[in-house]
Amino acid sequence: MTRRILDLLRYGQPNEPVTIQGWVRTKRDQKSFSFVEVNDGSSLAGLQVVVNDDLPNYAETMKQANTGASVEISGVLVESPAKGQRIELKAHTIKVYGEADAETYPLQKKRHSFEFLRTIGHLRPRTNTLGAVFRVRNACATAIHNFFQERGFLWVHTPLITASDAEGAGELFTVTGLDFEKLPRTDAGEIDFSEDFFGRRAYLTVSGQLEAEIMAMAFTNVYTFGPTFRAENSNTSRHLAEFWMVEPEMAFCELEGNMDLAEAFLKHVFKHVLETCPEDMEFFNLRIDDSVLATAENIINSQFERITYTDAIALLEKADKSFEYPVSWGADLQSEHERYLAEDLFKKPVIVTDYPAAIKAFYMRLNDDGKTVRAMDILAPKIGELVGGSQREERLEVLERRVQECGLPIETLWWYLDLRRYGTVPHAGFGLGFDRLVQFMTGMGNIRDVIPFPRAPREAEF
Ligand code: 4AD
Ligand code: MG
Repeated sequence: MTRRILDLLRYGQPNEPVTIQGWVRTKRDQKSFSFVEVNDGSSLAGLQVVVNDDLPNYAETMKQANTGASVEISGVLVESPAKGQRIELKAHTIKVYGEADAETYPLQKKRHSFEFLRTIGHLRPRTNTLGAVFRVRNACATAIHNFFQERGFLWVHTPLITASDAEGAGELFTVTGLDFEKLPRTDAGEIDFSEDFFGRRAYLTVSGQLEAEIMAMAFTNVYTFGPTFRAENSNTSRHLAEFWMVEPEMAFCELEGNMDLAEAFLKHVFKHVLETCPEDMEFFNLRIDDSVLATAENIINSQFERITYTDAIALLEKADKSFEYPVSWGADLQSEHERYLAEDLFKKPVIVTDYPAAIKAFYMRLNDDGKTVRAMDILAPKIGELVGGSQREERLEVLERRVQECGLPIETLWWYLDLRRYGTVPHAGFGLGFDRLVQFMTGMGNIRDVIPFPRAPREAEF
């Protein structure tokens, strides 16, 4: 039976006969033998294979088993005399499935820039760094499901095609089932979507929150985990046009419960990744950002700071630092402000609550002061906003007023208002940017390098 390389590196014993399959990372020919490092994606390190020249067809096989070639190798594990590895494989038979021409194979042994690797998105998963990223990404996803499943949350599947703008921010991609050009126009010259596939204008979802609220009003605690889309200017190192979001929604829950859950959630995910991907995390600490491990420990062991927006503004005004964007009550926090609070001032995640209503979404619960809402953003060192959430407005009249004030089409939200007519209840939730979490955890500089197939302006190769 074929064994995965991670399993062998961890538990393989000398004298065990094994078969492995994978891709050649490096090959070094010596006088009477060759070293071949094979990687199957299960671990950062490959397995070192020693091929002696008494192997049948030695010369021919070694010519074929170049960097990038796919191979199946059977042999016996032996103790490794080399430093840094416990065991190696002494090859008895080698089958080369597919060769890779050394002249044209783009992944050479040298270090490639991440910009270059983005131009060969179909091959970059075979590099050390991207391999580690996608294993950590997978571990994060596992931890997320475990966290919610252990607490009795239902995973709900919210639609990717929707008719409403959940954030009311107008950053929507339109979906049309017909040829755009062929849709009729109104007298005013606007496209008439009533003739389109859905009989109305439809969009790619910016958030599953509103539908998650529907489900929370029946199942109490739910979460979504899936792709979301935003046609915003995502030409930054922290924005994607297509990104994954995790959105828990809890009935009978207010802002404090929401903050408690978010904090416990982040601690859980970091802990799981440190436990299951120690080699990958050490690699990031060594090669990408030497604060990665300390940051992870800090998340797990610190108590997150909790301050109001009003206090945050006061702290920023007092800061002995000049900002590019001016600080004033009512203005949204810019990334530089968020980073100052989390990175310089508190040196740990900061939960900022009670933002001005005018800069937050229509669904957030209005405070008694009439000016602020029960919002909460979690700001993290280096990355800024990692989580955005709130207690929701559960009072029908207040919500109707807010929808109107925000100039949103109330007729597309009749069902959302209905939830406040029938068995309304205080409820709250948040959205975690999954890709930002992976970026934060790994220390990767650009969010395009933590998702296998990034979508950003003018970036859609596959
Ligand atoms: O703050 P946002 O817009 O909140 C919502 O969408 C709410 N409906 C969430 C909720 O309460 N259920 O987005 C949530 C998070 C942000 O904090 C950020 O981490 C991430 O999603 N995010 C992005 N990540 C990558 N690329 C983008 N363009 C992002 N926009 C938001
Ligand atoms: Mg936000």
